[in-house]
Amino acid sequence: MDTDVLIIGSGVAGCSAALELAKRGLQVTMVTKADRPEESNTYHAQGGIIYKGKQDRPELLVRDIEEAGAGATWPPAAQVLAEEGPHLVEEILIKEVKVPFNINEEGELDLTEEAAHSMRRIIHSDDFTGKAIETALIQYIPHIPGIHILTNHVAIDLITPEHHSPDPLATYPPTSCLGAYVFNTKEKKVIKITAYVTILATGGMGQVFLHTTNPDGATGDGYAMAYRAGAKLINMEYTQFHPTTLFHKDAKRFLISESVRGEGAILKTPKGEPFMEKYHPLGCLAPRDVVARAIHEEMVEHGYKYVLLDLASYMEPERIRRRFPMIHETCLNYGIDMTKDPIPVVPAFHFSCGGVKVDLWGKTNINRLFAVGEVSCTGLHGANRLASTSLLEGLVWGNRAARWIHQHWKEYVNEYPPHPIPEWIDTGVEEPIPP
Ligand code: SIN
Repeated sequence: MDTDVLIIGSGVAGCSAALELAKRGLQVTMVTKADRPEESNTYHAQGGIIYKGKQDRPELLVRDIEEAGAGATWPPAAQVLAEEGPHLVEEILIKEVKVPFNINEEGELDLTEEAAHSMRRIIHSDDFTGKAIETALIQYIPHIPGIHILTNHVAIDLITPEHHSPDPLATYPPTSCLGAYVFNTKEKKVIKITAYVTILATGGMGQVFLHTTNPDGATGDGYAMAYRAGAKLINMEYTQFHPTTLFHKDAKRFLISESVRGEGAILKTPKGEPFMEKYHPLGCLAPRDVVARAIHEEMVEHGYKYVLLDLASYMEPERIRRRFPMIHETCLNYGIDMTKDPIPVVPAFHFSCGGVKVDLWGKTNINRLFAVGEVSCTGLHGANRLASTSLLEGLVWGNRAARWIHQHWKEYVNEYPPHPIPEWIDTGVEEPIPP
């Protein structure tokens, strides 16, 4: 066996699983196609991560998740997140890994607001929370022996004896995953990494869409590999469009965090008229799907190319610069000063609420294959994800998958199916034609 557990992907979900497994004495190999281990969907998240509000209770968070999920949220998954999430944020992110979350003037964690939350319960690091979390996790990993990270390695196929073993009898037992074939993009060769257990933590698929908030690496390869191996995918039609990405001819769809609306920004037509009140009683803080659809409707009905997001009229310039330094600077690079002018915005693909179907421990329908984070579907998000649940879901399910694997470790080792797994055969494989 090359490693005890192979983790594909190095965002918060993969790191959370790796840390818990290694702390429990297992050897972990984590592969990422990126050049730097921290480059991931997590790294680009802006708004924040749910912690707990004053007078908050798990049932209040569950209610918000279910309301945003439009009747399709799986209640046990929401329950797990609400009960375990805040504790893991405190123990792992705040105390252990020491993520530099913002502290307010009272010396407490600064709580921000995002759409469809019934209270302020989200903690953040300025407007680059994902970067702060991911950097802290990756810097912490070397303190825990047993985690080996391979960068520039893109997983291309999950190893399932049913599909890859030369033994014809391997077709009959239930499908198991015994690792992955992984392409070393520097040396241009495919290696085989065998493992007792494999965890998919490959993030999302935004690059399938023309306009997306996702980074270039979000190409959906995890879903494709899992599907080819026989995993069940569900809810793939529940794609979430983020209402506010920067509209500029030279910008990729740069995210303007929902926390900008959480802190008081108002959506207006290009003529300067607020319009959200006519779509939902919560106005600009309605659930994300409602806001994205409302913007789309305004654009289609009136032929607007974009709508405006106005914070300048509601917040002091100095406060805007302090609260949203990264968004402020990025907009300035495109000639837009958000301390003075509204930002032109349009919706763009943001998050896949569906994915590889997993249970409450991250187990897929394939033996020895887990999926955690965006690539998975726990049912938590239903048809529309509540803001700032994605980093938390990765943290919680990464940890839960690791706990399950450790608890059942003897079974994984003793029942390992003795199928010969061939090296990757690349006869007929050609260099792709560059786009
Ligand atoms: C945002 O900052 O608006 C994104 C947060 C999220 O996707 O939960």
